[in-house]
Amino acid sequence: MTETKQAAGRISDPAAFILRETEVLEPPLVPEVRLHLASDCLPLWELTEEELMEQGLPPPFWAFAWAGGQAVSRYILDHPEIVKGKRVLDFGSGSGLCGIAAMKAGAASVLAADIDVFAVQAIAFNAKENGVPLSVTQDDLVDVMDESWEVILVGDMCYEQPLAGRIETWLRALIAKGADVLIGDPGRTYLPKRNIEKLISYSVKTDRRLEDADVKNTAVWRLVD
Ligand SMILES: C[S@@+](CC[C@H](N)C(=O)[O-])C[C@H]1O[C@@H](n2cnc3c(N)ncnc32)[C@H](O)[C@@H]1O
Repeated sequence: MTETKQAAGRISDPAAFILRETEVLEPPLVPEVRLHLASDCLPLWELTEEELMEQGLPPPFWAFAWAGGQAVSRYILDHPEIVKGKRVLDFGSGSGLCGIAAMKAGAASVLAADIDVFAVQAIAFNAKENGVPLSVTQDDLVDVMDESWEVILVGDMCYEQPLAGRIETWLRALIAKGADVLIGDPGRTYLPKRNIEKLISYSVKTDRRLEDADVKNTAVWRLVD
């Protein structure tokens, strides 16, 4: 049996899988945060999408600190007034990076949302590792109009349609109700094209095995009316 097939066969217990297959590391742009991340590309990542689907598994996005999430996190840590005392939603949280950064920057509370059960477990481990309380949900919140979210952080979610289209429509409805929406994006195809304001750009060190470059020029954007 190949190493990747063995990996896929060992993942019925998300918590045990995460602890066994990751190391606690600091994302290059956000060294204040420590996360359970794949130190090498997980064997699981090398399965094709078809093979993962056959096993009912999404790709292990939670095992990487994506360039977009690192950029949003860096920005709010350097501009804590954006989240200070606010109720924050970290949408598509993955490892929990943006939510953890928001709590470190002084947010009143963070709800980290990810539909992947492995991400939900990884977020819980990572929140504990950083000593910050986070609420976590596996619900798909797209189209949920909760006006208590004052700031919504979106790290690297514009990589596929129709997801990106659904998210944009929903987020625009939320900004019309007063939410502040920040998106971190390294030039993905489906980043919204209109009514979006660039706040800053960073050069983010990435993994060539995941991306097509060692460094990605990554911007933080604010959705505007
Ligand atoms: C590329 S990762 C980004 C993770 C993290 N924000 C970061 O920047 O490191 C995208 C994440 O979005 C999650 N996701 C996809 N569709 C979602 C949905 N409808 N609701 C919540 N999370 C979703 C995936 O499970 C994955 O963890």
